[in-house]
Amino acid sequence: MPIDIRLTAIPAPAGFSLGAHLATMTGEADDGADIAVAVQGAETAGLDPYLGSPVADVLAACDATGKPGEVTPVAMRAGDKPRRLLFVGLGDESAADLRKAGAALGSRAAPERGMLAAAVLGQPAGAVRAFAEGLLLGSYHFSLASKAPSNGPSEVRLLVPEGDERAAEAVTTARTVAEAVGLARDLANMPSGRKTPAWLAGEAARAAGASGLTVRVREPAELAAEGFGGILAVGAGSAQPPCLIELGYRPAGARTHVVLVGKGITFDSGGLSLKPNEGMKAMKTDMAGGAAVIAAMSALAGLGAAVRVTGLVATAENMPSGSATRPGDVITHFGGRTTEVLNTDAEGRLVLADALAYADTVLEPDVMVDVATLTGAARVALGGTMGALYASDDGLAGALLAAAAEAGEPLWRMPLVDDYSDALDSPVAELANVPHSSRPRAGSIEAALFLREFTGGRPWAHLDIAGAARSAPDSGDVKGATGFGTRVLLAWIGGLSSA
Ligand code: BES
Ligand code: MN
Ligand code: ZN
Repeated sequence: MPIDIRLTAIPAPAGFSLGAHLATMTGEADDGADIAVAVQGAETAGLDPYLGSPVADVLAACDATGKPGEVTPVAMRAGDKPRRLLFVGLGDESAADLRKAGAALGSRAAPERGMLAAAVLGQPAGAVRAFAEGLLLGSYHFSLASKAPSNGPSEVRLLVPEGDERAAEAVTTARTVAEAVGLARDLANMPSGRKTPAWLAGEAARAAGASGLTVRVREPAELAAEGFGGILAVGAGSAQPPCLIELGYRPAGARTHVVLVGKGITFDSGGLSLKPNEGMKAMKTDMAGGAAVIAAMSALAGLGAAVRVTGLVATAENMPSGSATRPGDVITHFGGRTTEVLNTDAEGRLVLADALAYADTVLEPDVMVDVATLTGAARVALGGTMGALYASDDGLAGALLAAAAEAGEPLWRMPLVDDYSDALDSPVAELANVPHSSRPRAGSIEAALFLREFTGGRPWAHLDIAGAARSAPDSGDVKGATGFGTRVLLAWIGGLSSA
């Protein structure tokens, strides 16, 4: 249901021409598929007879400019029927523009017709990859309507040069990555009435089973026995018990060990520090970081990642009730450190602290990266399309920024300002989860500084994706969850694998 396209790479022999191809399309041989070509592309040569006018004149008459993602449908006559030719603008042919172009076509793919896309024929593998990824994700939609809008997947055939292994592989890679992003979106789009921590653990286990990962889920009894007091405190007010999901990917010969940590709050009401409705209504996506971790883990084997990766998702529902954690309570994290909870709505850092401390002291990784919809402040700072990056290590920051640029999920590095650490002082515990003073301060930085306390000085990065995890309601792009973070993590791990 999520990605509604079945994409295959079709080898085009040297000297392939669409015009000649169309000439063979008569009667039985004509499958009636839409044909997609680039406004900028050489593949339109030879189409004049089918359009009845020179391509350039047709484009001018239809005001086709070639800007990225612009789709201009034109009717042409092929064989004995009219059929649809889609001119797509590739912009400057950067990866970003190619993703946009692919997405525009993907959102138009019609199951009853299918599509033959020649738009990136002959382009380098990176371009094919970006276009194919956009195409697949452009078809993504999520609906729980009783009348499901889908008529089954559309068959899209993407022409690549015969013998060009890298282009064919790019299509396979795009499919693996797009499926992972689709999974992250599905998980985050699911309403919280169904998406309990146990449900999320079940979905993680299902993804793990399908991709050869190990899975361990710690239930409340084990969490209590091992001292995961942050996860238990956040889940204490909910009728749905919290848990810690641990996924393992361990390829033979791997030397580097990466731990990914995701915030998995299946619903954030704020707890007793209750949010107003306006701030609460999007909080089913407060596990988007956890979703990105599960999704990235699910794609590692398919992409042949060569490093060991452990994925931790600390999942709980943050609800107010008679058993909920109260402002002023002091909780004990994994490893024994205590936190004074002054605001139960700053819950993400409490569950992440347990997971980071566990990773640091038990898993002892080379590097850890957490992904979380952690603070409204990060969204205020960077808006809805960029994630905030914090890193304890410049090399790690550089690698993640490069991965973000490659993946088309932009990150902006923010400072871990040591001088602000006193914001987390508590008279009764090692830390307070929010400042005692209510003076407005750097909310996203303070949250990052809180997390850093649990990283044991290991190379660590934190992605605050509160803004980018879901699209603004008015953005023309994907509605709801974006799956942001999945592609950054995969691009970064891909880079480690080839290092
Ligand atoms: N899940 C929210 C952060 C959030 C806000 C994500 C908006 C996406 C969109 C987080 O748990 C939260 O409530 N943070 C508080 C922290 C504050 C109490 C210090 C916030 O940002 O207001
Ligand atoms: Mn909150
Ligand atoms: Zn939250």
